[in-house]
Amino acid sequence: MVKVVICGAAGGIGQPLSLLLKQSDYITHLALYDVVNAPGVAADLSHINTVVIPAGVPRKPGMTRDDLFKINAGIIRDLSEGIVKNCPGAFILVISNPVNSTVPIVAEVLKRHGAFDPRRVFGISTLDVVRSSRFVYELDNSIDPRSTRVTVIGGHSGVTIVPVLSQIPGQKFTKEQLDLLTHRIQYGGDEVVKAKDGAGSATLSMAYAGARFTSAILEATVAGKTGLVESTYVNLHADEESTAAFRAKTQLEYFAQDVEFGREGVSKIRPLPELSAYEQTLLDAAIPELKVNITKGTAFITDAS
Ligand code: NAI
Repeated sequence: MVKVVICGAAGGIGQPLSLLLKQSDYITHLALYDVVNAPGVAADLSHINTVVIPAGVPRKPGMTRDDLFKINAGIIRDLSEGIVKNCPGAFILVISNPVNSTVPIVAEVLKRHGAFDPRRVFGISTLDVVRSSRFVYELDNSIDPRSTRVTVIGGHSGVTIVPVLSQIPGQKFTKEQLDLLTHRIQYGGDEVVKAKDGAGSATLSMAYAGARFTSAILEATVAGKTGLVESTYVNLHADEESTAAFRAKTQLEYFAQDVEFGREGVSKIRPLPELSAYEQTLLDAAIPELKVNITKGTAFITDAS
């Protein structure tokens, strides 16, 4: 029996995501919720294995993801309270922005209840990976965007998004191409926000990315498939051993990186890929911004006590 609930199911992402997940062979019960009264929703959540959260407001032109914090932080906190009370062991997949901060909010709420398992909480940054393959393809039509995987590390907003383009086999980009690609990947969401002109942010591509990520989690946790890897924003304590040196060096508790999935969620956080000098500079710029975003999310819960 595999129940998946989508919190925010009536929204721009929630609707197509529900449609895509409805086709999954792994899900026996797909529960769709979209009410503002989170405790009411939560009471209905018992025995849910997996919760995907695209609830909250999206951006309007000129807004950054961080501008959404004021509204979405409270929504995520309330939904997390509901989850911890009703299905504390569920895998929680967070789409709501700003992901760099909303994932720490979920973690802090769960910690308060002694229910935080870092292997089970994910920020969905898959859209950055999907966009990367697509944008590289637009520059070089000889690659297959479906099979060309780009590792994207860091976080899920602006400068915290660090695409590791140097690892694409056979690719040698000029400095101009790297600048162009990196900027498009970091700010690809803005293209959509601008084109929709006030009517929201990415929904269809996000639903695709969200369904892909959710399917990978289900394939690993339900069907026991091994070798599944996605880049995702997680608490690094999900794999103490592999991340010890990185945590000591950067003082970061959360980071997006290639993660291998297993029955319990995160089974291994892969070591950082070898970075070019260009990518190292991007990472150096990402770290201070990430720290601010993480502290903001964490403090939203810890300072409220
Ligand atoms: P939307 O406004 O179309 O839908 C959000 C839905 O959430 C609405 O139907 C609303 O009623 C519902 N909602 C609000 N509070 C709720 C609560 N407490 N419980 C249950 N449902 C609640 O927005 P859209 O376009 O679907 O975006 C949702 C979120 O996803 C935004 O925060 C957006 O920034 C984020 N996003 C994340 C991406 C990523 O790559 N992780 C990409 C694109 C958007």
